Amino acid sequence: MSDGTTPHRKKRIFSGMQPSGEAHLGNYLGALKRWVDMQDEYDCIWCIVDDHAITSGTDPRELPGNVFDLAVSFLAVGLDPERAIIFVQSDVHEHTELAWLFNAVTPVGDLERMTQYKDKASRVESVPAGILNYPILQAADILVYKADAVPVGEDQRQHLELARDVARKFNAAYGDTFPEPAALIGDAGRIRGLDGDAKMSKSIGNTVGILAELDEVWARVRTAVTDPQRVRRTDPGRPEVCNVFSLHKFFSDEETVEDVATQCRAATRGCVECKKILAENIAAAFAPFRERAAHYRAHPEEVKRILDEGAEKARAIASATMAEVRRKMGLRWRDALG
Ligand code: AMP
Ligand code: TRP
Repeated sequence: MSDGTTPHRKKRIFSGMQPSGEAHLGNYLGALKRWVDMQDEYDCIWCIVDDHAITSGTDPRELPGNVFDLAVSFLAVGLDPERAIIFVQSDVHEHTELAWLFNAVTPVGDLERMTQYKDKASRVESVPAGILNYPILQAADILVYKADAVPVGEDQRQHLELARDVARKFNAAYGDTFPEPAALIGDAGRIRGLDGDAKMSKSIGNTVGILAELDEVWARVRTAVTDPQRVRRTDPGRPEVCNVFSLHKFFSDEETVEDVATQCRAATRGCVECKKILAENIAAAFAPFRERAAHYRAHPEEVKRILDEGAEKARAIASATMAEVRRKMGLRWRDALG
């Protein structure tokens, strides 16, 4: 709390999301929902990380549309340009510039230890350097704003640790400059996709979009895998292993959740009906988001203006950090020579 004599500075938070189009339930429950709630308490910066996306071989014809669609999702769920900075990474060149400078203090061994790197590298024949260096750019995203904390999912814990190491190493080599950003790991856990097994993810194609209309939500949820042991409608189900049930917990009221569990165990309601209730509740929960999204899709110039203003505010902070970093690293030779 501010005591009235010193200005109260809210903690600064940064987070980023890759542009793969409209957000899905996993993105919403695992990240966006929390981001929206954080806007009251923190000074927030929300970034669409298109410079990161290119490391996974994004189609250049699709990338701009994916950036726009994610921006619409951001605004639709309630990320608020009045209270937070919302922008696209490639609009603020300081991120990539700082990432280059961080190469100087980051051991290759640390990058090679990242599980996400090992996982991605094992799946391609020739590994692009960008996949290895990905966490350096992520560290730059965060540190260029001297963010205090970063809300992320469990899978990003290691990247955050690397960002803290980069801050520490930079400070040791060039003088105290960056705070070590804390990871704020959410408790939503891993939202499973409609296959009932893998993490819900665009790349697997097991998602439900947050802006889908009821018929579309239904078309997706209808395909969801339920308890594999429940083959016939008359077989009793096990809600505790059923992914449809776990989604009900997010979207249905307590009474419905209880009723769904009871009827599943007693085999008095079939999976199809249970899924119908879920689809309806998902579509109803997101109705206000669809309305806002429709507005922004009809007014793309408004989205562009918001992202332009966001980039401008971001640049103001980032360029000040870069001036300090360049000076500390001896990259201001004209000034230094006088
Ligand atoms: P991605 O689209 O995988 O880059 O994820 C963007 C953000 O959404 C990250 O912060 C993730 O933690 C979150 N996220 C994505 N998919 C899921 C999921 N299936 N369960 C929980 N969180 C997720
Ligand atoms: N790597 C993150 C992910 O895949 C996205 C990201 C990029 C990010 N830069 C960031 C997250 C900075 C937090 C802070 O989810």
